[in-house]
Amino acid sequence: MKTLYLIGFMGSGKSTIGEMLSSLLHVPHIDTDNMVEEVYEQTIAEIFQNNGEGTFRMYESEVLKNTPVQNHIISTGGGIVERDENVLFMKENGVVVYLETSFDEIAERLEYDQTRPLWSKNVQEKKDLFIRRQKLYEKNTDILVHTDNKSAIEITEEIKALL
Ligand code: S3P
Repeated sequence: MKTLYLIGFMGSGKSTIGEMLSSLLHVPHIDTDNMVEEVYEQTIAEIFQNNGEGTFRMYESEVLKNTPVQNHIISTGGGIVERDENVLFMKENGVVVYLETSFDEIAERLEYDQTRPLWSKNVQEKKDLFIRRQKLYEKNTDILVHTDNKSAIEITEEIKALL
């Protein structure tokens, strides 16, 4: 099986669905955010604060390039589509799955989240980021799955059926 890359905005469920797909398809799951934190021994918030977003993007691309292109589920960070090289890598090597979630649903899920530096901005900035990203996810995906009002199991089964 070609590796599956889960893309989507912060809070769209990439890590949760990644874990569930991994169990269902019996292949290992890698979360690029977790990998960045492990490899570079800092939390994402610390990397943003100490080294800036550009450094985080460099680390993220480095981690992505080193993930296996067969028989894996890769949950990516919401900003993976910010770099063309990442998009190219995912499209060339595997199947890209976009977990599409509405802004309102994301805002509800992340209401108390304090771990994501780009979610600590004001509402207009978050909306602008969401709209800009939405276009990038749509343009670069192989499979689009709507996630609003669906359980994680339903979403996971839906992706499996589409493969
Ligand atoms: C980011 C999303 C985060 C994390 C970082 C930047 C983004 O991942 O990579 O805070 O630019 O959208 P999640 O999508 O897993 O929250």
